[in-house]
Amino acid sequence: MSGLEIRRLRVSFDGFTAVDGVDLDVRPGDLRFLIGPNGAGKTTLVDAVTGLVKAEGSVRFDGEELLGRSVHRIARSGIGRTFQTATVFEELTVLQNLDIAAGAGRSMWTMLRRRKDVPESVVRALETIGLTDLADSPAGTLAHGQKQWLEIGMLLVQDVRLLLLDEPVAGMSHDEREATGALLRRISEERTVVVIEHDMDFMRSFARSVSVLHAGRLLSEGTVAEVQADPKVQEVYLGHAAATEDATVVQEA
Ligand SMILES: Nc1ncnc2c1ncn2[C@@H]1O[C@H](COP(=O)(O)OP(=O)(O)O)[C@@H](O)[C@H]1O
Ligand SMILES: [Mg+2]
Repeated sequence: MSGLEIRRLRVSFDGFTAVDGVDLDVRPGDLRFLIGPNGAGKTTLVDAVTGLVKAEGSVRFDGEELLGRSVHRIARSGIGRTFQTATVFEELTVLQNLDIAAGAGRSMWTMLRRRKDVPESVVRALETIGLTDLADSPAGTLAHGQKQWLEIGMLLVQDVRLLLLDEPVAGMSHDEREATGALLRRISEERTVVVIEHDMDFMRSFARSVSVLHAGRLLSEGTVAEVQADPKVQEVYLGHAAATEDATVVQEA
């Protein structure tokens, strides 16, 4: 089977089970949203898939088992992720960031070469993420949303086939969110995309399918409509609402 296939995934920290026997299938062309209250285990699941934490069970991508492989080997298998905070090189330009991502293994001289030598993959990524006009600007001068797009571009030039994005629209303006949603739709036509998200409006507008995680377990799965109509999901989000300041998420859920 192609795509992502997770079985009985379990991650424990000193006896505390953060991910507790999760099964998840994401096919290429899907745009899967992974939602759930804080502490549900969403980031830990992505950490397990990318090799950052030890896990039990099975994680296959395009049929290959990933669990037990090193972080680098998993990255070389075509799997990339972003973190909740952007990790671009602020001093370098947009183009240089993409060039470095594209050219892992090439010399510094080749990577910092002039514009006219820009590889096709970098030109295409710049267009896809909408930063062509800002190619020569230092990444540190980009707006918050643009930095997240640059990070996604860095995964595109590596020709990542599975993108795992951890709260990519957190802190973005409404317009930035819309642009990001459109970007994720384009990307998911050719690649498998999993988005961890908190924002219900964003999820409703762009998710093709949704998995809800709660206390390390899969609570519900389906289309946006199915998940929203699920009493178990309503209960978790309402309970969550009473206990936290996250009132917007709750009211809309
Ligand atoms: N390195 C760690 N050591 C101990 N506990 C952790 C570690 N990472 C995450 N946790 C715990 O695992 C649970 C799930 O965390 P996380 O995956 O970050 O949740 P989410 O991303 O859904 O908000 C939380 O209770 C968190 O405190
Ligand atoms: Mg998280």
